[in-house]
Amino acid sequence: MQVLIFPSRDEATRAAAKRIADRIVGHLDIVLGLATGGTMEPVYARLIEIVREGGIDVSRASSFNLDEYVGLAADHPQSYATTMRRLLFDHLPFDPERTRLPRGDAPDPLREAKLYEAMIAAAGGVELQLLGLGNNGHIGFNEPSSSLASRTRIKRLTRNTIEANQRFFGPDETVPTHSITMGIATIMEAREVMLVATGAAKAEAVAAMIEGPVSAACPASALQYHPRAAIMLDPDAAAGLKLRDYYEDVHPGGREVYFARR
Ligand code: F6R
Repeated sequence: MQVLIFPSRDEATRAAAKRIADRIVGHLDIVLGLATGGTMEPVYARLIEIVREGGIDVSRASSFNLDEYVGLAADHPQSYATTMRRLLFDHLPFDPERTRLPRGDAPDPLREAKLYEAMIAAAGGVELQLLGLGNNGHIGFNEPSSSLASRTRIKRLTRNTIEANQRFFGPDETVPTHSITMGIATIMEAREVMLVATGAAKAEAVAAMIEGPVSAACPASALQYHPRAAIMLDPDAAAGLKLRDYYEDVHPGGREVYFARR
């Protein structure tokens, strides 16, 4: 695991955006795995700037989002499909045919989950998967106790997640109770993963993910088994790490410094 602790939230999210842009430049036909949530808002804002400034071609890139609320149509104001258009797809010339999310209003959500998994496989799998982290250690909507071998399926959200996501809904609106989410095994098949976590509310989950046992109690801890996982943190999110000094020695200021022979 590459644990990168940046001096600020701004630098962490900027570095995440830069890495996405670099991967697109490296492979214009890239298949990206995308996430939603508050953490991603500055990441996508920076990505839009970098792509525009660099004149980067995103028209050939494909994407699969991690999850969608069951019951919300793609044009519902709080659906992740609408969120992705608002944060990213409306601002850059992505091909709408290649930007995919599970259909939250599919008549048969179980079938939709299976189809989504098959679509990812048919596209050749995800090359770079972007992840946020739930306060309870979830990735996608794989809540604690999710099988580490899980595939795209329907998951009931925990009360903790419903409360955390109430902020995206109006005071009189009810947060859906279920989601269609990529499974942990689906996420683990991405060739590279990059998880971004910022703010003190994530510190406990960050410590469990990086330094705790690999356990379904903290689904993100499965990433310890991923051969190419980068964890991008700000100082508040890194506050609970016992080996923080070590990570900062290896990657000062979050920089990717590699061992060089003298
Ligand atoms: C969203 C998702 C979730 C969020 C996580 C963190 O697509 O998959 O796992 O990444 O709940 O959300 P924020 O960033 O709002 O704290």
